[in-house]
Amino acid sequence: MKIAIVFGTRPEAIKMAPLVKECEKRNLDFITIVTAQHREMLDQKLEVFNIKPHYDLDIMQANQDLFYVTSSVINEIKPILLKEKPNILLVQGDTTTTFAASLSAFYLKIPVGHVEAGLRTWNKYNPFPEEINRQLTTRLTEFHFAPTEWAKNNLIQEGINPLSIYVTGNTVIDALLMIVDQNYIFEDGFLNKIDYKNKKVILLTSHRRENFGEPMREVFLACKQIIESHPDVELIYPVHPNPNVQKTAYEILNGVERVHLIEPLDYRPFVQLMNKCYMIMTDSGGIQEEAPSLGKPVLVLRKTTERPEAIEAGTAKLVGTDKNKIIQNAELLLTDKNEYKKMSSIANPYGDGKAASRILDIVLEKLG
Ligand code: UD1
Ligand code: UDP
Repeated sequence: MKIAIVFGTRPEAIKMAPLVKECEKRNLDFITIVTAQHREMLDQKLEVFNIKPHYDLDIMQANQDLFYVTSSVINEIKPILLKEKPNILLVQGDTTTTFAASLSAFYLKIPVGHVEAGLRTWNKYNPFPEEINRQLTTRLTEFHFAPTEWAKNNLIQEGINPLSIYVTGNTVIDALLMIVDQNYIFEDGFLNKIDYKNKKVILLTSHRRENFGEPMREVFLACKQIIESHPDVELIYPVHPNPNVQKTAYEILNGVERVHLIEPLDYRPFVQLMNKCYMIMTDSGGIQEEAPSLGKPVLVLRKTTERPEAIEAGTAKLVGTDKNKIIQNAELLLTDKNEYKKMSSIANPYGDGKAASRILDIVLEKLG
C-alpha cells in the first residue's frame, strides 16, 4: 500500500504537511511529490515542517501562465506515477497543481483522494481558475475529504455518491495547532518593534487573479485612505511575489507612512502576526479558515467566497473590492468596540486539528 502526496504552492504545503507528518508517524510507505508551482514560498513551508520531498518537479517560472503550469505538471508527474505506481494520489484544494495532478492520476487509473473537497462559489470566473479546478478535481476523485458538512452537501447536490464523502475537518487547523505558539518571538527585529498593544495593526494579504488590475487598485487605495485617516493604525502587508501583485502594491502603498510592505513570511512568524494583529484584511482562502481560530476579525476582499462558515459564525465579512465599502467596514471595526467584540469571538468552524489522522484512517481502511 503506497500513498503519494502531491502539492505545489504555499497553501497546499501548509495543508498537506499534517498528512506527511502523520504518514511519518505511522511509518507508512509514502512518497511526496512537489511540483514547485511556487518555489521560494514552497521551500519556506517545507523547511518549517521539515519535509524533504522525494520528487521535486521544479516547474515555477516568473509570471507563469495557466497553460504552462497545467502542461508542465502533467508532463513531469507522468514518469513518477508510472515508476512509483501508488495506490492513491492525495491532492489538496483548488490549485492548478491539484487539478493537473488529479487528471494525470486519472489517466493512469490511480485513485484520487481530494483533501478539502466540496468548497464552491458556483461562479466559473470567481475565484479564477480555482472554482473550476476544484469542480474538475471532484469529477476525477474517488475519496472526497470534505472539511465541513456544508462542503459535503455541495458534493451530494452534484450527484457525488455520499458513501465516497467523508467529513474530516480541514487540515489547516492541524497545521495551525502544530505551529501556533503564544510566546514565539519574531526573529525579524522590525516585527518585534511594532507596538501591538497601543497601535491597531491591520494585517493585509492579497493575490487573487480575478482581482488583478482595477479591483486590487481599489483595495490598496482603500487601505491607504484608512491608514491616512487613523494615526493609531499600522498596516503590515507581506506582498505576494506574483509580479501583477507587486506592481500595484508598490505603486500605491510604497512610502505611505505606517504602511509596511514586507516579503512573504515563514509560517511561524505569519501565524504569530495573525495572533498579535488587531484585524485582518485578505483575499486568501487559508487565512479565512485560520483567523476564526485565533479570534481575529476578517474582512474578505473578494466578491465571492467558497468558505461561508466563518461568515455565518460572524467572524468574517465579505466586503468585496469596492473602495468605499472596504473603508466603511474597516472604520466600523476600528471605531466600534461592540462590532469589534462581536467579530473577534473565537470560532472554529473548520476543524479540531485531527483531520489528517481521520483522512489516513479512511485511506487505510478502504485501501490498506
Ligand atoms: C497560486 C494558485 C492559487 C493560490 C495561490 C496561493 C493557481 C492557478 N493559483 O496562485 O490558487 O491561492 O497560489 O498563493 O494554481 N512567485 C514567485 N515565488 C513563489 C511563488 C510565486 O516568484 O514562491 C511568482 C512567480 O512569478 C509566479 C507567480 O508568482 O509565476 C504566480 O504564481 P502561480 O502559482 O502561477 O499563481 P499564484 O497567484 O501564486
Ligand atoms: N501565509 C504565510 N505567510 C504569508 C502569508 C500567508 O505563511 O506571508 C500562510 C497563511 O497562514 C495561510 C496560507 O499561507 O495558511 C495562505 O496562502 P495563500 O493566501 O497564498 O493562498 P490561498 O489560501 O488563498 O490559496
